[in-house]
Amino acid sequence: MTSFETLSNKLGDGQSHVLTYWDQLNDEEKHSLASQIDGINVGLYEQAFKEVQMLKPQSFEQISPISEDRHIVKSELDPKIKDEHWDLGLKAISRGEVGAIVMAGGQATRLGADQPKGTINLGLGLSSTDSLLWIQAARIARLLKLAKEAYPDSSPSIQWLVMTSNSTMEETRNHLVKVVQDVGISMDDVTIFSQAEIPCFDLNGKFLLSSRSSLATAPDGNGGLYAAIRPLLPKLKSRGVKHFHIVCVDNILCRIADPHLIGCAIDMNADCAATTVEKTNPFESVGVVCLESGHVRVLEYSEIPKELAEKRDPNGKLSFRAGSVAMHYFTMDFLEKVSDESVRLPFHVAKKKIPYFDLSTSTVVQPKEPNGIKLEQFVFDVFPHAKQVSLNIRFLVWEVLRHEEFSPLKNAEHVGRDCISTIRRDFASECRRWLARAGVELSGDKYGNPVYISPLVSYAGEDLSKGQISPSNGVIKMTNGLLVENGTVAQTS
Ligand code: UTP
Repeated sequence: MTSFETLSNKLGDGQSHVLTYWDQLNDEEKHSLASQIDGINVGLYEQAFKEVQMLKPQSFEQISPISEDRHIVKSELDPKIKDEHWDLGLKAISRGEVGAIVMAGGQATRLGADQPKGTINLGLGLSSTDSLLWIQAARIARLLKLAKEAYPDSSPSIQWLVMTSNSTMEETRNHLVKVVQDVGISMDDVTIFSQAEIPCFDLNGKFLLSSRSSLATAPDGNGGLYAAIRPLLPKLKSRGVKHFHIVCVDNILCRIADPHLIGCAIDMNADCAATTVEKTNPFESVGVVCLESGHVRVLEYSEIPKELAEKRDPNGKLSFRAGSVAMHYFTMDFLEKVSDESVRLPFHVAKKKIPYFDLSTSTVVQPKEPNGIKLEQFVFDVFPHAKQVSLNIRFLVWEVLRHEEFSPLKNAEHVGRDCISTIRRDFASECRRWLARAGVELSGDKYGNPVYISPLVSYAGEDLSKGQISPSNGVIKMTNGLLVENGTVAQTS
């Protein structure tokens, strides 16, 4: 175990309060505190704390929208080209070249649930687990089936990589074991890994403690992905993975490992892409993907000046309308380069209510007002920093329709948006559109009951048979190609 003197030297005057109770700790407590201090770069975080306090004046003169030729609007693509992309994507899956990374390490403070976001049972009645992670797993299982049908001689595989953090690791792992079994994918193709934690600060830059023998820490933001995945890349490469789809855990409509996107990126020889939805209201709280002096960046909604937010192009659309939804495509080569240790992402500051151990009273305090600072890195910050590794990136904006592909779970129910009832509603609406497109009539269905189609049956509306469905009074669920209605099962054709 590292000695008191070494720890004290490492902490310096600024953070020596962390060792206040050292003499009263038992061996186990000393061990745990020492290894926590050993594992952090005190100077780096102190420096980061100082930097985020400084207001950096920003110039927006060099900001411009992404050029039209790199801004793909999926809904406007020629259907034939779209089919070709789909096929290219499925081919990559059939060769085992695709990895899907889910960022599931967030603390979900706005939601305020007592379990990780991805594991909450959404009550759709599609499976016993019925969570956001189950939906993603079922979509993966469905894609594997489609790839096998398209390429019968292949052995399709998708590497599913789930990033967790200290607070989500155990429950997510336990949940995934059930989910994977339920949808019938192989645990050999699932990797659960954890992002790093950063000490939390009080408002004066001192580390907060969570007990007398532990530092209060928080995950390092979804940009922690790069450092966390770095050690996994060689194995993934040796397994033949060439394309990554990086998604958030909380979007119920997320088309994970989307063959359309992967196929388009292959076709256009892109090494990275950002999925966006059209921002129609200039003041919507979403960052926009744009260029700064020719380098791709995301301008956060809190940063964008009014004139830029409101600027319109000759067609009357917002010039800066590429609203980032934190979903990306990266090639293996690109991910390897930007995960290099030499790429230093900036830290962002989040002022939060952080429970802490009060050294003067020896009690844990639950603050009512924000009392501390969490430092976070963001997954999209890698774009401007790609130049650190001399990368001239071939970038695409991949614009999708919000109602088809984006409905996140962020808030508790009382907020009324981006909450469980709205993501269920949006999923049901999308399923209804699929049925309408497939010519399936929900006859006698006057009540607008929700329709949930299992992702094991259809990934994006494909393969829904034509037919008539008898009147429905209760919730309709499509499971395994059958229609279940008030406990009775009917064929859809
Ligand atoms: P959000 O920024 O919405 O954070 O994350 P959150 O933790 O889910 O919710 P709040 O802000 O605390 O209410 C967007 C995605 O990034 C992941 C989340 O799990 C979500 O999928 N994320 C966020 C991480 O994986 N790690 C982090 O440190 C932060």
